[in-house]
Order: sequence, then C-alpha cells, then structure tokens
Amino acid sequence: MEVVICDDNERVGRTAATLIAEVVSRRGPASVLGVATGSSPLTTYAALADLVTTGRLDLSRAHAFALDEYVGLGAGHPQSYHSVIRRHVIEPLRMDPGRVHVPDGTASDLDQACLEYEHAIADAGGVDIQILGVGTNGHIGFNEPSSSLASRTRVKTLTQRTREDNRRFFDSLDDVPTHCLTQGLGTIMDARAVVLVATGAHKADAVAAVVEGPVTARRPGSVLQFHPNATIVVDEEAASRLELADYYRHVWAVKPRQTVAP
Ligand code: GLP
Repeated sequence: MEVVICDDNERVGRTAATLIAEVVSRRGPASVLGVATGSSPLTTYAALADLVTTGRLDLSRAHAFALDEYVGLGAGHPQSYHSVIRRHVIEPLRMDPGRVHVPDGTASDLDQACLEYEHAIADAGGVDIQILGVGTNGHIGFNEPSSSLASRTRVKTLTQRTREDNRRFFDSLDDVPTHCLTQGLGTIMDARAVVLVATGAHKADAVAAVVEGPVTARRPGSVLQFHPNATIVVDEEAASRLELADYYRHVWAVKPRQTVAP
C-alpha cells in the first residue's frame, strides 16, 4: 500500500488523475476505469477533465464501471448515480455513454442485474484502475461494515450513518434510499490497481482504519491491505490520525520517480 499525503484537495485530485492517466497510457485507449461517486473524487475528475480538454488524455474509447447505485432511483433522478456519473464523469471526461455502466437499481430482478453487472465487467476484461472514496464508517462502494471480504455485486442495506452522511444530497432523510446495489469487496479487489482518495478531518478515522487498522469486515476498506497495487491519496487532515505519516512522507520524498508533487 502506498500512502501519498498531499497539501490540499486539489493536489489529491491531480495526484490521483496522474496515476489514472499513466494506467491509460500503459493499457491503451480502451482501458477500463472503475469510477466512484461522492464528493471525494470530484477534484480527481476535474484534473482528468483538464487533461482531456487540453488534449493530453483521450477517454473516448475507454470503458467505465460505477461502483454502486441506489435501489429505486431511476436514471433520470438527479441523485441517482446514473445522473451523478453522467454529470461528473461522462460529460466532463468526454466519454462514450455507451461504454459507461452503472448498476440498474430499478431492475425487476435485482439479483439478476447484479450477476449481469459482474459479467459485463468480466467481458470488458476487468477493471484496470478503480477509483475509490471511503465512507466515514470505512465503507468502500456501498460495502457497509460486516460485508464479506469476498463479496460480489449484490443488494445491500445502507446503514443509518451512511444515509445520514448522504442526506445532504436529498430533500430529507426519508428521501435517502434504504438499499443499494454495490460491487462487492471481492469485485473491487479484482481491479488491477486501486486509488483511494480522501480529504478532510471527518475522514481521518476511516483512513487510519483502512491503512493501519486490522483487516476486518468492521472496516471494509481495510481489505485493500491485501491489494498488491493500492494507492491511498489523502490531504493533511485526512492523514491526521495515521501513526506512520512521517514514514509515508519519507517514502515519497526519496521515491525515485514521483507522480505529482504533493
Ligand atoms: C458514498 C459512495 C461511496 C463514497 C462514499 C464517501 O456512500 N457510495 O462510493 O466513497 O459515499 O462519499 P464522500 O466522498 O462524499 O464523502
């Protein structure tokens, strides 16, 4: 696990975007991205959009798979992850909407929709690089505490804490769906590389648990400690509870080839 501590959120985004652009340049124009919703990856998407609009990155033939979707919200709902991915990923990154996939939270058979989503990821050749945020309770995707570390895409029940965290996107708590479809921890772990971004003091506990805590379903993101190619990009506040922060800074300072200066 590599931990990169950046001065601010904007540099977090630029560092993550550089990692992603490097993967695309290595894997080719039809690379497969795993994309996350939430506030955390917004600066990453903005930095990627900058690379695209200045002609340094072309994602028009790339594929993307979103991590999750609320059950019951149609693609037209402004807070459905279909809409969020359209606004923050497809449009600014000039991606082909036909190559960007989001689980179908309105399917009549949700279990079947989850199975088909797994097949679609496999048919695309698997995810080359997965972008992740982390919930305040340590979830990744919508894999809430107690998720099996081997789980695949499935229906999950959101915790009250996650619903309260996401309430800001809805008119009231009652409007926040109770269920979602989410890629499983096993699905996420199949990605060839993962980059998790987190900023702000409210993420410090979750980041410490993911990076330095025991690997436990109680903090689902901690499973990334088993991933052979995981990069955690955080700002100073999100890094504030990391016991080994000085070591991570030293590793970066003496790294022969730094991706982006924090
Ligand atoms: C949501 C998403 C996650 C995201 C997390 C953190 O619940 N399903 O993919 O990482 O919340 O969100 P934010 O980045 O807004 O803090």
